Amino acid sequence: MNILITGGAGFIGSHVVKHFVTKYPAYHIYNLDALTYAGNLENLQSISDKPNYTFVKGDIKDIPFVNDLFEKYRFKAVIHLAAESHVDRSITNPNAFIETNVLGTTNLLNAFNKLWKANFDGKQFYHISTDEVYGSLGKTGLFTEKTSYDPQSPYAASKAASDHMVRSFGNTFGMPYKISNCSNNYGPNQFPEKLIPLFIHNIQNSIELPVYGDGQYTRDWLYVTDHVLAIDTIFHKGKKGETYNVGGLNEWTNIDLIHLLCEQLDRKLNKPKGTSAKLIRFVKDRAGHDKRYAIDASKIQAELDWKPQVTFEEGLSKTVDWYLQNLSWLKNVTSGVYQEYYKKMYG
Ligand code: NAD
Ligand code: DAU
Repeated sequence: MNILITGGAGFIGSHVVKHFVTKYPAYHIYNLDALTYAGNLENLQSISDKPNYTFVKGDIKDIPFVNDLFEKYRFKAVIHLAAESHVDRSITNPNAFIETNVLGTTNLLNAFNKLWKANFDGKQFYHISTDEVYGSLGKTGLFTEKTSYDPQSPYAASKAASDHMVRSFGNTFGMPYKISNCSNNYGPNQFPEKLIPLFIHNIQNSIELPVYGDGQYTRDWLYVTDHVLAIDTIFHKGKKGETYNVGGLNEWTNIDLIHLLCEQLDRKLNKPKGTSAKLIRFVKDRAGHDKRYAIDASKIQAELDWKPQVTFEEGLSKTVDWYLQNLSWLKNVTSGVYQEYYKKMYG
């Protein structure tokens, strides 16, 4: 079976591709990625020679290219991760998020629909989304699959719109789809614009740690391979037309998480206790910053028997070790254009 995975050179996508290529030799995995600043073929070195894997460089915004690709390989299933994914970038350039996340997703839906509308049996379009579509929580409560959409950032709004487009193709054309909305992922290969890898990189290089606002914002963290197992489970056992929330059951305020990270790095780098924490600086808050995200994952737990396997201490320690052992990866992705981004973003 030919399966298209989009965004497979990015953080989560590369873990998904590696998992599917290795675990399912009967599937042929086509990884479609535009290799934006966030896509990196180094993430896929371990599987690049496998006979059931093909990388295709291309842009989901390019309609003729997308249509030709679907006609050529007749993908029976799509796992769609390609996206502009960083909230801060969506504040400075919202259009890029509409173009890839909304129009790009719609291009994939059109191509899949055109190919299979006569017979959708055994086909599926699986869209990977985020908990940010639900907006921001107060001190209590959790996001369930029934929580109303209330996106607050241009990134979240573009992901919400893409979710709506997927459901509309299900409703209008009978397209078999699935959607999952996941909380914050962390782990190896995450681009160092996101909190955890950015702060690991900064601590290693004795650069200040820019904490937005008062640092009391809360996120629900999930180790990336647990998200991959959730995607595998939903892909194989999830019901068509259903949505599943995926989360770590693991809430941290940013400032507590940062202190834990600082303690781990002091230990691993043999620095005196308290050295890394001295780099903490409270800076101007993110515009429209969502206060708290937290997922109720009881549906996927009860119906599909998925739950996180990796504890936060273990996952964070593995993540820090990976970055310390892969200095060349970090060096490659933080050269050139990254320096300009950093200057513009943090001064
Ligand atoms: P990422 O930014 O690391 O990777 C995105 C990938 O998509 C990159 O390889 C990039 O080259 C590719 N891409 C971007 N625009 C493209 C285009 N126009 N055509 C083809 N490829 C393109 O993102 P990530 O953190 O791995 O997130 C993957 C997906 O999971 C996204 O859809 C995101 O919304 C969702 N998600 C992420 C998280 C998280 O915490 N990172 C949580 C929940 C959901
Ligand atoms: O919840 C899922 C989402 O999690 C995904 O859909 C997004 O793709 C992903 O980027 C992530 O969004 P966040 O905005 O929560 O992640 P980020 O790592 O950018 O920020 C995490 C928290 O840390 C947030 O409260 C902002 C704060 N932060 C972030 C950065 C980059 C800082 O205080 N300083 C920083 O420099």
